[in-house]
Amino acid sequence: MDANTVFKGLEGVIVSETKVGFVDGEAGRLVYRGFNIEELVQHSSYEEVSFLLINGHLPTASELKSYRDVIMKSSSLPSEVIDLIWAHSNKYPTSLLRTAVSLLGANDTRADHITDSDQKEIGVELVGKVPALVSSIRRAAEGGKYVKPSPDLSLAGNMLYQSTGKKPDKSSERIMDVCLMLHADHGSNASTFSSLVTISSLSDIYSALTSAIGTLKGPLHGGANEMALKLIMEVGKPENVEEVIGGKLEKKEKIMGFGHRVYKVYDPRARILKGFAREVTARNGKGQLFDTAQKIEDVMISKLGTKGIFPNVDFYSGMVYDSLGFHPDMFTSLFAASRTSGWVARSLEYVSDNKLFRPRSSYVGERGPLAYIPIEKRN
Ligand code: SDX
Repeated sequence: MDANTVFKGLEGVIVSETKVGFVDGEAGRLVYRGFNIEELVQHSSYEEVSFLLINGHLPTASELKSYRDVIMKSSSLPSEVIDLIWAHSNKYPTSLLRTAVSLLGANDTRADHITDSDQKEIGVELVGKVPALVSSIRRAAEGGKYVKPSPDLSLAGNMLYQSTGKKPDKSSERIMDVCLMLHADHGSNASTFSSLVTISSLSDIYSALTSAIGTLKGPLHGGANEMALKLIMEVGKPENVEEVIGGKLEKKEKIMGFGHRVYKVYDPRARILKGFAREVTARNGKGQLFDTAQKIEDVMISKLGTKGIFPNVDFYSGMVYDSLGFHPDMFTSLFAASRTSGWVARSLEYVSDNKLFRPRSSYVGERGPLAYIPIEKRN
């Protein structure tokens, strides 16, 4: 390796040290501040997990109460953002979410000359605000009126309540809470990295999250969950899988919801989501959807398992979100609602021992120097 070696996509390059979370791609292990994700899903809640990621320890009862109070207060949206969402209710949800976060920043004078304490204060507010934005975007798209959060519901419960105007049943609230915990943080993924690049210039955390949402939107990253469910629906039934998936692979098309830059084994989040997907599709009479997904998994692992291609978080999440009444074009915004905790935690951590990101690129163009050619002499 010499000074001009290019690491395309920064593959394998370590850009920072972190204590927030760890992804063990060989063992298929996901850790938040030392806790295995399975342990947290079994015993914790998204509010607790969000506090853990940002503050580095599980909250005491009083810490959790004050944290929840801030989140609850923040999840009531300002009128200018409500007006924006309802005026643009037909826009693509992730684009509208990106715009709404940006408007929040434009309207917050703290963001203009940001201090370290403001960054954290705004970051925790956004943990409550972004899910409320996502729910309101769904509510507006479905023709409903704005719903204020209910103080007797969890953040997960309010996501469903502010989306539909109806208080959710316990099982739906639990499923929403688990989805939020599973998507909260995941190492130096593309959207987290873009938030670090933004905050490393000492810009404000609204800008960092606007960058992150824009990055998450791409189909190779957070946009895959929406496309994975559309693919499963397009295949339709197990007997179609060999032909459809085989055909796509022959054309070297990427199958959404499979493969990962770090996991070369089954994504532990996909394992948990698969269990919920099996349960909710059976309950909702959509068993064939799950059977088709299972068959796609079998075919993909048989063909590409030896290359380390397995289901990732995005393959089964769509069926679960669909069971909660979310339209597929809402799925990436749901991902953003949860990943706000990871983006905030890692942005605050990075900027506390900051170094502006400024990588190099290897110039392979014309060395010159070339003489200028007047326009009349150019052909
Ligand atoms: C997320 O980084 C994170 O942590 C992200 C995330 C998070 O929580 O933040 O986990 C969330 O973004 C999950 C990934 C969601 N994206 C998708 O499901 C889109 C489909 N997946 C692929 O685009 C791909 O797997 C990536 C982008 C996710 C990772 O690809 P890499 O590491 O850049 O690897 P690669 O594209 O160079 O592929 C290596 C080989 C290639 O074959 P060869 O050229 O060597 O013959 O594997 C093949 C690829 O063609 N391959 C696939 C495939 N993924 C990789 N072939 C078919 N279908 C796929 N999905």
